[in-house]
Amino acid sequence: MTLTTQQEMNEAFEFLTLYKNEQHLTEQWLSNRICEVETTGEYVPTTEELTFGARVAWRNSNKCIGRLFWQSLHVFDERKLTDPQSIFQALLRHIDFATNNGKIRPAITVFAPGKVRIWNHQLLRYAGYETVDGIVGDPDSVAFTKVCQELGWQGEGTPFDILPLVIQVEERAPELFNIPNEHVLQVNITHPEYKKVEELRLKWYAVPIIASMRFNCGGIDFAAAPFNGWYMGTEIGARNFADENRYNCLPAMAEAIGINSDTNSFLWKDRALVELNIAVLHSYKTAGVSIVDHHTAAQQFKLFQQQEEGHGRDVTGNWTWLIPPMSPATTHIFHQPIANVILKPNYFYQKQPF
Ligand code: ARG
Repeated sequence: MTLTTQQEMNEAFEFLTLYKNEQHLTEQWLSNRICEVETTGEYVPTTEELTFGARVAWRNSNKCIGRLFWQSLHVFDERKLTDPQSIFQALLRHIDFATNNGKIRPAITVFAPGKVRIWNHQLLRYAGYETVDGIVGDPDSVAFTKVCQELGWQGEGTPFDILPLVIQVEERAPELFNIPNEHVLQVNITHPEYKKVEELRLKWYAVPIIASMRFNCGGIDFAAAPFNGWYMGTEIGARNFADENRYNCLPAMAEAIGINSDTNSFLWKDRALVELNIAVLHSYKTAGVSIVDHHTAAQQFKLFQQQEEGHGRDVTGNWTWLIPPMSPATTHIFHQPIANVILKPNYFYQKQPF
């Protein structure tokens, strides 16, 4: 690996001190461990340290409302893998473990730092195609879809084509892998009362697995460390389906529930939004796929805040992300200031590889 800088060494020592404190290890343990790191001139976390780091990184994720469950994160240590085919297999294992027939389990798979890169934004995501009659699929995926096509991939051209995995090892050309259907749990969207909603033929995948962020821990950047939780309904119903620059479904939804959509002050968008979000929650629940509504998620976040306070830790957060995109003022989060202080370990954005 590349030379470890003093700054990185300091971050390693800081992380090991946090680990020692929270795991109730001795001063003796810490000085021995630091001595090891100094002797080798490089910090290589043990699997236990990595596991702790990934969980604390979740705890420190200021944009995440679901942090109550940070200690339940399952960590797959796959730093030994260096060929694309075996990395692909590890990603399928992650998808299967996380999906768990719908009873979603939070997990992260950590790959070798400085060696592995996954080009996808999420392990499971829909393609977006520019066509003469506008974009088909997810507009957010248009650029990446083109990359996949240039690498030889061909989608079916439906609004919901699952993109292939694009895996790069070191400076070699990226390799493309199709995800077999049996690994991809998806939910068809229906509404408990408005039967026409089914005719919109909407669906979404069960598990959001962010693959584009770097896991920073003890001075090391793990550029490939895909992680997942389960969905909060509004992510799908109030953003992915509702945003004008995503699937833009509110006009079709208004029609499906039989309301007039030409007067702003009738609040047709708001009404369509509510019914669309009811449909998302209803469909996931009926399919037996874990999902949380934003009111319950806010209550869970409150428990997290109390739990953290009990441990003498300040909860940091990014208010603009923590408030849900529907009815935000019905949650306590809206009415409470929260400091957006960035702690480490954490998950950070990084430059797109394409
Ligand atoms: N908002 C993103 C999406 O709609 C997923 C982000 C992670 N979400 C989560 N619940 N862990 O796909």
